[in-house]
Amino acid sequence: MCGIVGYIGDQEAYPILIKGLHRLEYRGYDSAGVALINNESDLSVYKAKGKVVALEQLCSEKDVSGTIGIAHTRWATHGEPNEVNAHPHFSQSRHLALVHNGIIENYKSLRAELEKNGFTFCSQTDTEVLVQWVEHMQNTHHCDLYTAVQLALKNVVGAYAIAILDKTNPDQLVCARKGSPLIIGVSKNESGRSEFYLGSDATPIIEYTNKVVYLKDEEIAIMDRTGRLDITNLANVKQTPQLCTLQMSLDQLEKGGFPHFMLKEIWEQPNALRTCIRGRLNIVDKDVILSGILDNKDKFINCRRIIICACGTSWHSALIGKYFIEEAAHIPVEVEYASEFRYRNPVIYPDDVVIAVSQSGETADTLAAIQLAKSKGAFLYGICNVIGSSIARATDSGTYLHVGPEIGVASTKAFTGQVITLGLLGLAIAKEKGTLDDKIFHMLVDELQQIPDKMQWTLDHNKDIAHFAQMFTYCKNFIYLGRGYNYPVALEGALKLKEISYIHAEGYPAAEMKHGPIALVDEEMPVVVIAPKRGMYDKVVSNIQEIKSRKGKIISVVTEGDTVVKEMSDYCFVIPDTRDCFVPLLAVIPLQLLSYYVAIAKGRNVDQPRNLAKSVTVE
Ligand code: F6R
Repeated sequence: MCGIVGYIGDQEAYPILIKGLHRLEYRGYDSAGVALINNESDLSVYKAKGKVVALEQLCSEKDVSGTIGIAHTRWATHGEPNEVNAHPHFSQSRHLALVHNGIIENYKSLRAELEKNGFTFCSQTDTEVLVQWVEHMQNTHHCDLYTAVQLALKNVVGAYAIAILDKTNPDQLVCARKGSPLIIGVSKNESGRSEFYLGSDATPIIEYTNKVVYLKDEEIAIMDRTGRLDITNLANVKQTPQLCTLQMSLDQLEKGGFPHFMLKEIWEQPNALRTCIRGRLNIVDKDVILSGILDNKDKFINCRRIIICACGTSWHSALIGKYFIEEAAHIPVEVEYASEFRYRNPVIYPDDVVIAVSQSGETADTLAAIQLAKSKGAFLYGICNVIGSSIARATDSGTYLHVGPEIGVASTKAFTGQVITLGLLGLAIAKEKGTLDDKIFHMLVDELQQIPDKMQWTLDHNKDIAHFAQMFTYCKNFIYLGRGYNYPVALEGALKLKEISYIHAEGYPAAEMKHGPIALVDEEMPVVVIAPKRGMYDKVVSNIQEIKSRKGKIISVVTEGDTVVKEMSDYCFVIPDTRDCFVPLLAVIPLQLLSYYVAIAKGRNVDQPRNLAKSVTVE
């Protein structure tokens, strides 16, 4: 949610900043801006409403020289998306320019105080208040930028990642974070001179260096052209920067011949899941090795219950995880919306295990939920995709998805990565607790191993649906139905359609229809039913009959070879047979493709749907 890029070194900053903004655009895309200090120490700020290309167009007629700069792509929180509210923001004297991710909660009182001191404002943003507050500190304490930022942030309530330029000191870049991620890339050019790169995540940095420092909460960093990287915290205690190596490659950030990241990520799923299970499934010894569980087995064996906190798509995968962990490991599992959990004073025991599921590892509500659980003494486990992310670092232990960067705003491969990781986790705990019969355990291990191939089969057999999807562009509503493990898949299918095509869709447990929602069904209503030839097949067939007799249009997901549901359906997606608990990994694929092609037929921007951003770092 909003992206920050920064650079200081010998190169021209503008091309680095613009490329970085393009890489970060998935985090927010309603406006963008850049600030640069040129050789004459002029500080220029250029901003444009809309996508980064609009900013590029504007800058094509401007002086964009300078070897130090900061830039921002915005997802509006305070103030509508327009040029005035876009970042960077100037301070009153126009000596300072600042970009910001997050929310300053006490900005109104700070603004009132500043107004009393003669400051005037151009925008409605909390960010302009912050940059003015830093200048106010400089004016009143006659201190350097670093100290002024430190003093200013002590008065700030809220979350932030900031980067700030001062035209009176064009050789320094200052940044800070609390609750919003910020990464510093460290490199030396061919002449051995230091360069620093800043990013809200690693995507704008990886092209130049894989050596990074993850800034921690309440840390402030100063970088200069001599190679100085000093970090202190708000209490002015010096910190030692810890250099890490990024595990990411540039081609993971390109579309690789696909028209959209979303389609690429859908097709990447077989390989992404192979990587996810590599080293964790031992097919020879029929074993599951998850170091996060092995190192903490007592916590899991003796826990009273597991609570999984998540949002959106991650919440759907958590629900599948609950069904599996309860079935395999016989531990009660509760699945919570992190945004509700954090504010409703939940009962949390010290012998609870709280699992956070999050692709980005930065979702503000999920982070706050685990901080609450930590304060009550629970053991925290993180299931994240982004390495080094805030949730990964805030938890006691965890498992990374290793499905590679997910750039499309609609989550696809992270969802299946989460489902399979929760499956591994359930199996690993079941093994430690001895709750599964050996034969069943081995059979599940074997089946899990085959899932990537079965995903490939599913993709190959359902790929030509662009024409079929066009029929649904005029629909105003969809219903998605599933039972058991496939109820969360129905929720996920409906969410995918809503977020990228803007068609209203509801996911329901199939048998709940007759308790109300069936009243919605008429000949105009497409009803997507996940009906594999497993578990509750006969019951789902009856549910389909109920819809058919109200003239609803049936789109089904069926097991290869099924004829009964196929004959009842107006359109059918096929998936290979697998165990009930793994059906979601296959059944979700046609639903992802359906939403993609309906959205394309409606001319939507699938990678950057309206009002959404990839990483929700505000509550
Ligand atoms: C939907 C989607 C969102 C995220 C949600 C949580 O396609 O991507 O619903 O799942 O915002 O994000 P993470 O998993 O990063 O915590």
